[in-house]
Amino acid sequence: MTLLLHLSIFFTILFISLPSSHSSSSNDKNALLQIKKALNNPPLLSSWNPQTNFCTTWTGVECTNGRVTALTISSGEISGQIPAQVGDLLELRTLDFSYLTHLTGNIPHTITKLKYLDLLRLKQTNLSGYIPDFISELKSVTFLDLSFNQFTGPIPGSLSQMPKLGALQINDNKLTGSIPNSFGSFVGTVPNLYLFNNKLSGKVPESLSKYDFNAVDLSGNSFIGDGSVFFGRNKTTIRVDLSRNMFEFDLSKVKFARSIVSLDLSHNKISGKFPRELTKLRLEHFNVSYNHLCGKIPSGGLLQTFEPSAFSHNLCLCGTPLKAC
Ligand SMILES: *[C@@H]1O[C@H](CO)[C@@H](O)[C@H](O)[C@H]1NC(C)=O
Ligand SMILES: *[C@@H]1O[C@H](CO)[C@@H](O)[C@H](O)[C@H]1NC(C)=O
Ligand SMILES: *[C@@H]1O[C@H](CO)[C@@H](O)[C@H](O)[C@H]1NC(C)=O
Repeated sequence: MTLLLHLSIFFTILFISLPSSHSSSSNDKNALLQIKKALNNPPLLSSWNPQTNFCTTWTGVECTNGRVTALTISSGEISGQIPAQVGDLLELRTLDFSYLTHLTGNIPHTITKLKYLDLLRLKQTNLSGYIPDFISELKSVTFLDLSFNQFTGPIPGSLSQMPKLGALQINDNKLTGSIPNSFGSFVGTVPNLYLFNNKLSGKVPESLSKYDFNAVDLSGNSFIGDGSVFFGRNKTTIRVDLSRNMFEFDLSKVKFARSIVSLDLSHNKISGKFPRELTKLRLEHFNVSYNHLCGKIPSGGLLQTFEPSAFSHNLCLCGTPLKAC
């Protein structure tokens, strides 16, 4: 009797679970076929043949346990927009549309259905318009790369609400406005900020000074004011590039973390003298050219290993590798 009951439960479970897992997998297949159709059956996706196993033979498709977990469409002749059906690949961890110069439009709202999405890379395409606020609904994303597109408008403040974001790469767009004030209160991890080559301006919020960024690149914008918020004796920051802006602060007042290996402050309005502690850094890249610095370049450490061009075009810097004082 108990055996019969167990058996009947077993078969009931089998009956309920088998068809549903099968249908999820075939939902993935349907979504992929619709994506192919929405992209006008491009040659790049010619391997997407309904007669074959999409997990093993379709270009750019990766599966785990029969479900699509990665979709990578890259470097091909693709015209049109990101199909809304990408949002039906509910188990996606990686969504990557990159190096597709004829991919236009914006990011479809349907991607907010991708609850497990870890990596979103839409790099070097022709996407345009504002970066949508709804990206912040993707709570599992650790890596967001929207670089080399035509995005305009402000950086959405809501991005600070993405608890696992480790890297924000929105460089090489046409973004305007400043760094949102909400970046003074990240809900989770503190992401590396790659904001370079945009049209960003204004001051960096003072509230960012409490964060220990690993890497920050704001180069090639029009930021003004104090850029020294990214420095601090006790931080573990590795790389800071503030070059080609209009930052204005006194270098002699900055306390540098010992961890910094790459520091580019060139082309700003930074004044003051060299702090001696710069000689204690294990610098691999260093450039302070085109600023308003003055005084002797301290000797010792690695500063003298850099070419004169790393120090040139300042107010009155002197000493090796420049002329003697
Ligand atoms: C990108 O889109 C713009 C219109 O938004 C168009 O003028 C341009 O030719 C496109 N670039 C490429 C490489 O397709
Ligand atoms: C930096 O760390 C040292 C040693 O742990 C501590 O004494 C000092 O107060 C810290 N400074 C700041 C600004 O947090
Ligand atoms: C420093 O930056 C200036 C300006 O961008 C550049 O011309 C120079 O080659 C750089 N030097 C080094 C050593 O990086």
